[in-house]
Formats: sequence, structure tokens, C-alpha cells
Amino acid sequence: MSLQGKTILVTGAGVRLGRHIAITLAKAGAEIILHYNSSSRDAEETAEQINALGGTAYLIQVDLSDPNKAGDIFNQIKTEKPVYGVVHNAAIFEPLKLPDVTPENWQRHMDINLAAPFFISQAFFKKLKPNAQGRIAMMLDWRALRPGVDHLPYTISKAGLAALTKTLALSMAPRVTVNGIALGAILPPTDNSPDDKLIQSVPLKRWANLDELSQAILFLMDGPEYITGEVIHLDGGRHLI
Ligand SMILES: NC(=O)c1ccc[n+]([C@@H]2O[C@H](COP(=O)([O-])OP(=O)(O)OC[C@H]3O[C@@H](n4cnc5c(N)ncnc54)[C@H](OP(=O)(O)O)[C@@H]3O)[C@@H](O)[C@H]2O)c1
Repeated sequence: MSLQGKTILVTGAGVRLGRHIAITLAKAGAEIILHYNSSSRDAEETAEQINALGGTAYLIQVDLSDPNKAGDIFNQIKTEKPVYGVVHNAAIFEPLKLPDVTPENWQRHMDINLAAPFFISQAFFKKLKPNAQGRIAMMLDWRALRPGVDHLPYTISKAGLAALTKTLALSMAPRVTVNGIALGAILPPTDNSPDDKLIQSVPLKRWANLDELSQAILFLMDGPEYITGEVIHLDGGRHLI
């Protein structure tokens, strides 16, 4: 329970990896500000799971496609407790190649995947009490540092988020550490069955297990304070080939 007494905002925490991250941090003792957009029932279920563990979760609904609403997120939070950390997990991931990209789908990716983490982080930093410390973790993708032709606006938004990780680490030092996890094959998209061909291209030849994600997130939110501006690859070595 090393995060006991600390409050952490997790974006996109109603479903899948965000839910897993929120529950992991709650098990470590953190109170969770559980953000969602459209998955209200799933978000309530996640909060119920956290409550059943003896934890606390505050639900908050915000559409992060509007950067103004993203920046305003802390004004909607129904707890007076100071926020210690933010996990930027919410994102969209659309299979768009060069001919498919439009100004609209490009902008949507930039707003949700890049502008929202920036404006939430800015608001978090402005609200931080004098002398308080904090932590930010960005959910990146191995594609962020090794862009290819698939998921083009997604990849560019995550590459921007990798750059933002470093610039925020400098801008917020020495009070807030800012790091990222570049994920590989963790959970297949809901519209895809697990792709064995994909796994053949992963040097470690398997999907991650979610416990490995838990360990990585706890390392960044509760591990050594002297690490900042770092991007850890949790991708079975996929970025190496
Ligand atoms: N799954 C993987 O193997 C994998 C691999 C590499 C990187 N990642 C990264 O890990 C993170 C989580 O992945 P995932 O597979 O769990 O993602 P996911 O299933 O696609 O979930 C996306 C999350 O983003 C939220 N979201 C989407 N649009 C939003 C909007 N307009 N406003 C607010 N929230 C919005 C959703 O909230 P609602 O459902 O409430 O709308 C949902 O919680 C993402 O950043 C992703 O890029 C995942």
C-alpha cells in the first residue's frame, strides 16, 4: 500500500488497460480519479471493483476531444484532496494509412492523444501546491519512436507525446517526474482476434501479461524519484527489429 493517501487521475479508466491501471494503483493504496468518456457503465463497474477492494474512486466524465474541456478537468473533480499523479491513458487508435487521412481524423487524434495530455498536465502543474511533488505517466506505443505507415495520425500523435514526455520532464522539474511506457502487444483491439502473425514479429514471441503492465506503472508512479524524461519499452523487444 505504498501509494496510500495519494490521489491519482487515470484517463480512460473505464475499460481495458485504463481499468487495469486504475485497479493496480488502487490496490497500491491510491485514491483514483476515474475518468471516462462514453463507457459510463464500465466506469461504474471499475469503481465498484475498486470499492470492493476497500479503495476509493471518484468518477469523472469528460470528452477529451475538446482541449478546453481537457484543461478544465480538475475543476470537475469532486474531491478536495490534492492530486499527486496523472496517468494519461485515454487515446484513439484508427487504422489510417496515407490516402485515408483527412483533416478531421488527423485533428481528432491530435486533440485526444496529444493536446489533452498536454492541457491536463498543465492544469495539474498549476494546481500543485507549493513544495508538493508529483508524477506523470504517459501511455505511449513502440510506434511512437519507430514510426511506420500504419495508423498514421495515431503514430504521429504518440511521437508527439514522446517528445512531450521529455519537454514536460524539464518544464516540471524538480517537482514532478514525467515518464512514459511505450507499449507493444498488450491487449488486442476489441474488433480483432489475437493475431499470431503479429506475435511472430515480437522478439519475445508472446503477448505481455497484464501483471507486467502493473509492475511498470507502479515503477513509474512509486519507484525511484530520480528517473524523469524516460520512456520504458514494454513491448517484448518489438521496437528493436
Ligand atoms: N492495447 C494495447 O495493446 C496497446 C498497445 C500500445 C499502446 N496502447 C496504449 O495504451 C492506452 C490504452 O489502450 P487500450 O487498448 O486500453 O485503449 P482502448 O481500449 O481503445 O480504450 C481507449 C480509452 O480512451 C478513452 N477515450 C477515447 N476517446 C476519448 C475521448 N474523446 N475522450 C475521453 N476519453 C476517450 C476511452 O474512454 P471511453 O471508453 O469511456 O469513451 C477508453 O477508456 C492507449 O493510450 C493506447 O494507445 C495500447
